[in-house]
Amino acid sequence: MSATRQATVQIAPSILSADFAALGRDISAAERGGADLIHVDVMDGHFVPNITIGPPVVRAIKRIATRPLDVHLMIEEPDRYIEEFIAAGASMVSVHVEAVPHLHRSVTHIKKLGAKAGVVLNPSTPAVMLEDIAPDVDFVLVMSVNPGFGGQSFIPNTLKKLQRVRAVLTAAGSSAPIEIDGGIGLDNVGAVVAAGATILVAGQAIFGTSDPEGATRALRAAANRTPGG
Ligand code: DX5
Ligand code: ZN
Repeated sequence: MSATRQATVQIAPSILSADFAALGRDISAAERGGADLIHVDVMDGHFVPNITIGPPVVRAIKRIATRPLDVHLMIEEPDRYIEEFIAAGASMVSVHVEAVPHLHRSVTHIKKLGAKAGVVLNPSTPAVMLEDIAPDVDFVLVMSVNPGFGGQSFIPNTLKKLQRVRAVLTAAGSSAPIEIDGGIGLDNVGAVVAAGATILVAGQAIFGTSDPEGATRALRAAANRTPGG
């Protein structure tokens, strides 16, 4: 792939697979390995089956992280909590298309509060759902697993989905980056970058190892070895 695309790849370790009793240690290790963002998965036990963390933990992470916090809201009625997460330190906030009835309002709200606004598509949600919101989004997050848990297998159809999402964005005149989340590892990172993803979330592939620093570095190196690159 082009040097431009390689230069813009960002690695976003997901703390979902970190040691919650040693978040500071694990985040620092990923940052030493070159993490660009820290991906924070917020789950409510309703929109997804799992429950994770809320604004107090984001606030605590904000005190020790040196990279922007990328907060992925997997909750019902995210509008009720957007302000609190941004006040807690979120630099990027993404909401699921499937969870929000008035997406334009949510995106506008996030941006007005000074954060970057992302919209997320579940694996079964078609790229065309982005058509009318595309000019307004700062980034799109494409789920490559059904959200809720770390360590799941990458859904192969996502590669074609990435291309369709890029086409919808381009048609709307947007060059917003595409983030990919779920089952990303050394084996498929090149393929997702070749298909158009530039923000790479990885949980298990980084914090499921004994060396999150080295794993972050290895992921970036693999991302830069895109097929044909
Ligand atoms: C899944 C979360 C992901 C998760 C990814 O619902 O949104 O961010 O942490 O974990 P891995 O990389 O292990 O699939
Ligand atoms: Zn996530």
